[in-house]
Amino acid sequence: VSDAPLVTRPPIVTVMGHVDHGKTSLLDYIRHTRVAAGEAGGITQHIGAYHVRTGKGVVTFLDTPGHAAFTRMRARGAQVTDVVILVVAADDGVMPQTREAIQHSKAAGVPMIVAITKVDKPDADLDSVKSALSKEEVFVEDWGGDVQCVGVSAHTGAGIDDLLDAILVQSELLELTAPVDAPARGQIIESSVEKGRGPVATVLVRSGTLNQGDVVLSGPHFGRVRAMFDEAGKPVKTAGPSIPVQILGLSGAPDAGDDVVAVANERKARELAELREVKLREQKLAQTQA
Ligand code: GTP
Ligand code: NA
Ligand code: MG
Repeated sequence: VSDAPLVTRPPIVTVMGHVDHGKTSLLDYIRHTRVAAGEAGGITQHIGAYHVRTGKGVVTFLDTPGHAAFTRMRARGAQVTDVVILVVAADDGVMPQTREAIQHSKAAGVPMIVAITKVDKPDADLDSVKSALSKEEVFVEDWGGDVQCVGVSAHTGAGIDDLLDAILVQSELLELTAPVDAPARGQIIESSVEKGRGPVATVLVRSGTLNQGDVVLSGPHFGRVRAMFDEAGKPVKTAGPSIPVQILGLSGAPDAGDDVVAVANERKARELAELREVKLREQKLAQTQA
């Protein structure tokens, strides 16, 4: 617990929806990138975390997979976020993972903004999407509800400014703040062990500031942050609230969703990590005996 003053932080916005409804393409348009074009089979298979300096302020986006196999990633995406953008394709409408995404955001108690994508398509039908959403108890503004809804196209750019405005409106309502001048706390978005680099973890900082050289603890793993990179692979020395960074230096790859905390020194980290190991072992033992 720190008594550092609270400062406004960027919103964390998770993009969710049915497979191929245009989540990655929408973020590509906003970020001026071409991630979707490089994905195997055109399918997103992990959570991508990006912070974007838009004309309307910094926004951190989490992209999630729409494929049915990735339910846990969607649930996690809804749990770590401030706002969910529910992507529904104008030519395809409400589909199974649209419904699933609605359930995850409701379960996490996170406000939703609807983005009806692919409005450039000749068979786009926004009214039919809105009607289908109301059957899922998602009532958009022009249907008498309070959920903001914007039609967009990642091909023409239509509506994207309005979507960024909607995010801004929503995040102002949430009054998002965090201490900056404090030890970092955050969550693991994803992690892996890479040849030549060792354990690599994407951390979303929630409060405080993470610095290169800090000692961090996550699950049973710990270590001194040897290097940090932003989502473009550029080395960075610090990351403040709502900013995602890749870190090197952990003793192992923590589980996605695990908390990360900066601690005073390596001795303290080792002590805490060992305690956690013991607890984990006891839990496993209890499970096998139950
Ligand atoms: P998953 O991550 O696999 O669930 O897919 P996704 O929701 O990220 O969709 P993605 O961005 O991969 O787009 C799927 C297909 O829809 C691609 O062929 C895109 O080119 C196309 N697409 C995406 N947005 C638009 C749009 O605004 N208009 C049109 N016409 N096509 C779009
Ligand atoms: Na796709
Ligand atoms: Mg995608």
